[in-house]
Amino acid sequence: MKIFLLFLLFCFFTSLFNSCFAGNVTYDRRSLIIDGQRKLLISAAIHYPRSVPAMWPGLVQTAKEGGVDVIESYVFWNGHELSPGKYNFEGRYDLVKFVKIVQQAGMYMILRIGPFVAAEWNFGGVPAWLHYVPGTVFRTDNEPFKYYMRNFTTFIVNLMKQEKLFAPQGGPIILAQVENEYGYYEKFYGEGAKRYVTWAARMAVSQNNGVPWIMCQQDDAPEPVINTCNSFYCDQFTPNSPNKPKIWTENWPGWFKTFGARDPHRPAEDVAFSVARFFQKGGSVHNYYMYHGGTNFGRTSGGPFITTSYDYEAPIDEYGLPRLPKWGHLKELHKAIKLSEHALLKSEPTTLSLGPSQEADVYDDGSEVCAAFLANLDDKTDKNVVFRNVSYHLPSWSVSILPDCKNVVFNTAKVGSQASLVEMMPEELMPSVTSPSKGLKALKWDVFVENAGIWGVADFAKNGFVDHINTTKDTTDYLWYTTSIIVGENEEFLKKAGRPVLLIESKGHALHAFVNQELQGSASGSGSHSPFKFESPISLKAGKNEIALLSMTVGLQNAGGLYEWVGAGLTSVKIEGLNNGTMDLSMSRWTYKIGLQGENLSIYKPDGLNSINWVSTSEPQKNQPLTWYKVVVDPPSGDEPVGLDMIHMGKGLAWLNGEEIGRYWPIKSSEHEKCVEECDYRGKFFPDKCLTGCGEPTQRWYHVPRSWFKPSGNILVIFEEKGGDPTKITFSKRKISGLCSLIAEDFPMVDQAPVR
Ligand code: GAL
Repeated sequence: MKIFLLFLLFCFFTSLFNSCFAGNVTYDRRSLIIDGQRKLLISAAIHYPRSVPAMWPGLVQTAKEGGVDVIESYVFWNGHELSPGKYNFEGRYDLVKFVKIVQQAGMYMILRIGPFVAAEWNFGGVPAWLHYVPGTVFRTDNEPFKYYMRNFTTFIVNLMKQEKLFAPQGGPIILAQVENEYGYYEKFYGEGAKRYVTWAARMAVSQNNGVPWIMCQQDDAPEPVINTCNSFYCDQFTPNSPNKPKIWTENWPGWFKTFGARDPHRPAEDVAFSVARFFQKGGSVHNYYMYHGGTNFGRTSGGPFITTSYDYEAPIDEYGLPRLPKWGHLKELHKAIKLSEHALLKSEPTTLSLGPSQEADVYDDGSEVCAAFLANLDDKTDKNVVFRNVSYHLPSWSVSILPDCKNVVFNTAKVGSQASLVEMMPEELMPSVTSPSKGLKALKWDVFVENAGIWGVADFAKNGFVDHINTTKDTTDYLWYTTSIIVGENEEFLKKAGRPVLLIESKGHALHAFVNQELQGSASGSGSHSPFKFESPISLKAGKNEIALLSMTVGLQNAGGLYEWVGAGLTSVKIEGLNNGTMDLSMSRWTYKIGLQGENLSIYKPDGLNSINWVSTSEPQKNQPLTWYKVVVDPPSGDEPVGLDMIHMGKGLAWLNGEEIGRYWPIKSSEHEKCVEECDYRGKFFPDKCLTGCGEPTQRWYHVPRSWFKPSGNILVIFEEKGGDPTKITFSKRKISGLCSLIAEDFPMVDQAPVR
């Protein structure tokens, strides 16, 4: 007895700091059962490397205040295992720290180990080195892949065990995932696929981590692994066995962006509708993918062409601010679901028809608790329905929640939460007080221009083309393909005004073409389509001409059957308009150089900064390609989150104090495409349904976490590929400039968003 009291006391005190989980996690057809208790769980995906440790406690807290019980994250293999057996758990990759922050917040954790994850993450999370281990084919039945996959999974599970982070050990982790949406792609892998699924499930279960394993979008997930649903709607999903609960691992509350494309939006009303429908139809674990999308720092974005921002129009925005009204509306929804939890978990639902597209699901076992969901699935017309002799107004495409079977506490289409106006307020770059330019008004820019072509010693030469990715092995975005041609004095074009045309074909992803050190033009693929053509008149002179083509990757493929074999780089180069017609250079002698000189010398890192001779100026030249800029600045004033405004720049990479901000590319979407003024939330959502930003840059601002700034002497380094105006770069502070209340018809005003 004494011991038990002591234990209770211990639980009470630790729960002030930690929650006292010590839970056994089992399941049946209705729900997860944690320590003997059934649970309805609202989960939120926050990917730890998509923000910084200084943001983690705030993000987790904002999720908790939003009515979330569980934090979910993938584990990012290629961020952790940099080369075979060489692990990284520093900084943004400090997984243990992240899970402990979740634990300290008194929340549960779902760990989706994968270790293939898709996730718009470079190479779907699988390390590029594994592609070059002989005999490896990703995600199917072959020894090298299975060896490294098992190895990494075991490493992560053991790390979590050592730190006592699984629920039966008192930790927060209640579920673990193996693989990711393999079901979609099994057909690409033939015979080996089935064996691989069975192997992956067994391998996972044999880890003995004491919590159930899940596989998402895997109808044939073997027992006891639970198959789960990923979609915009999962109310109609049923697991593959009557003993498994209905779990929704990915409800996408917005969508990701690709460079050069428009901006997708999913209205809060439709997100709420999908969640309410899921719980109406017996769902018990629901996860927002993403709840905070964050940032693809450095070269971590997948693709090709996924933007550096992974904002996702999630309930918490990229910068860590609650997105209103979405965050607030979902918070109210979560309250309504929790009010109904007891009834939902106690009985089986009875479905009643209330009209042609109207239905109720009633959870009533005759005891004191009763909850009901009334849905109007008509996407055009509002309806009045009668339920238990009472009339209810149901807006089209909405669900009302009645936690006592009488009173409506929430309707998914009635947004009672505040909406916010968010602005990016520009603030000029200020010379740092500790910089040599102290006292000067103008900033001092240090400039270094790369050679347009081979720098140092060439890596190799070859007749014809190599594959870009097989050559760089993703150590850099850049690969130079260079050759030279001799132009005879008697070429007609030298006498006339006309110019020969350079024609290039590439498997992807982007290209800048230089002739005799001059940029002639650029081209790139778009969307998920990486191949492209380049066609442009070029300036040639009599005699020898240097042709230097800078081929670029913009994030490696992150999903699809046999995706790791998709290549990039040049496949054809021709010059048209010469006396002899067309000159085909495709089988010429090409000389190659991997990466840039500045990258090779790490001139963006504090200890590499002095390895080249920078040229100082207060007026850097505009539109200069292949240029590195370094400037020492003060942090922007205040404490609002910061974005770097790159609208006046071309394309490249940026760093602050050696930390990788990422790829910038303010490429615009076409102004001729279709955009919406307002989005009708009614009817099934799909990513192209509500697009805005026609003719605007897909991404103008690039998140620079506050914790990367020092009080002074901050070194901002930019590598610009094609030319821009660095003097127009500013920091912008993200500010909530106004809150407006949408007065919901039926419900009182809801809580304010947390103030940070
Ligand atoms: C899913 C995948 C996620 C993510 C999502 C789209 O199919 O499992 O990892 O890529 O799509 O954001």
